[in-house]
Amino acid sequence: MFHRSNPALLWLLAAVLALALAISVSHADSGTVLLRFSHVVAQDTPKGMMASHFKELVAQRSGGRIRVEVYCDSQLYGDDDEMEALRLGAVEMLAPSLSKFGNYGLPEFEVFDLPFLFDNLAQVRRVTQGPVGQQLLQRLGRQQMLGLGFLDNGFKQMSAHKPLRTLADFQGQRLRVQASRVLAAQMRALGAQPVVLPFGETLQALASGVVDGAENPLSNFLTQKLAPLQSDVTLTGHGYLGYAVVINPRFWASLKSADRALLNSALAEALALGNQLSAQMNEQALTQLQRSPNVRIHHLTAEQRAALKQAAQPVYEGFARSIGASLLKDVQQAIAP
Ligand code: LMR
Repeated sequence: MFHRSNPALLWLLAAVLALALAISVSHADSGTVLLRFSHVVAQDTPKGMMASHFKELVAQRSGGRIRVEVYCDSQLYGDDDEMEALRLGAVEMLAPSLSKFGNYGLPEFEVFDLPFLFDNLAQVRRVTQGPVGQQLLQRLGRQQMLGLGFLDNGFKQMSAHKPLRTLADFQGQRLRVQASRVLAAQMRALGAQPVVLPFGETLQALASGVVDGAENPLSNFLTQKLAPLQSDVTLTGHGYLGYAVVINPRFWASLKSADRALLNSALAEALALGNQLSAQMNEQALTQLQRSPNVRIHHLTAEQRAALKQAAQPVYEGFARSIGASLLKDVQQAIAP
């Protein structure tokens, strides 16, 4: 038998076990926590700034005991694998765009993708910061995610190698979209050909000519360095891009309640900052692009905008069922003045 035949080895094993126990007890005592936050955009975007502010607040308020590691620019995970990484516990926090939840069994989130639904960010906030937003955050639980809040980026603009002002301009253009069926339908309704691609692959796809154009808020357009690849930006403002901050529920449940409160309040402040910066950063990006000699900026006339909006209307009927007619009604009611 082992203990009789080799007492020295038994002693060693006991010592190793005691050491392991001591280490785990001391970890539990010191309460150190690591929270990995992965996202796909650049650091100098509303989401990137929100994430770094969150990290700083958490470090200050926990005296460095809770460490937030932020991985931007799809360094760790991209659109194709970040949700899976969250579920498996390979990262603890994400802030995917609302357009990306439909593919993960939450089609109601595609309501935000409906073209020309919102006219301004105040309308968006009435949805995200009100009862509809709360209801949507709760639904994330169905897919093993805990929703902690919403963040704006802003309104998307079309870019290509030519202005996209009329249906004739869109005809046959291959335009990159996020993996949202509503966005694909929107492009088809306008006469374009949607090409679904992860965000991290868009630059390359534009550079190689796999796609002709894309739709982005200007902060993403600028920080992804798409300007050298797209000569024309048309200020269509046809759709909204925003995010939900989600966390792994097992990780959340493993925290002490005081730590959950600390993280919640730091996140609320970081989200407020991100929401404050979002409009500002898109404005600054526009100013910068207007100064760029390689990019032409185009505006829509009221008639051109009305014609695109009308062409996109069938998307509403096509998706009322999967989004949920009653959710759509609640959203429209929240938007109504
Ligand atoms: C996109 O894929 O275009 C956006 O969701 C990227 C982002 O996170 O802003």
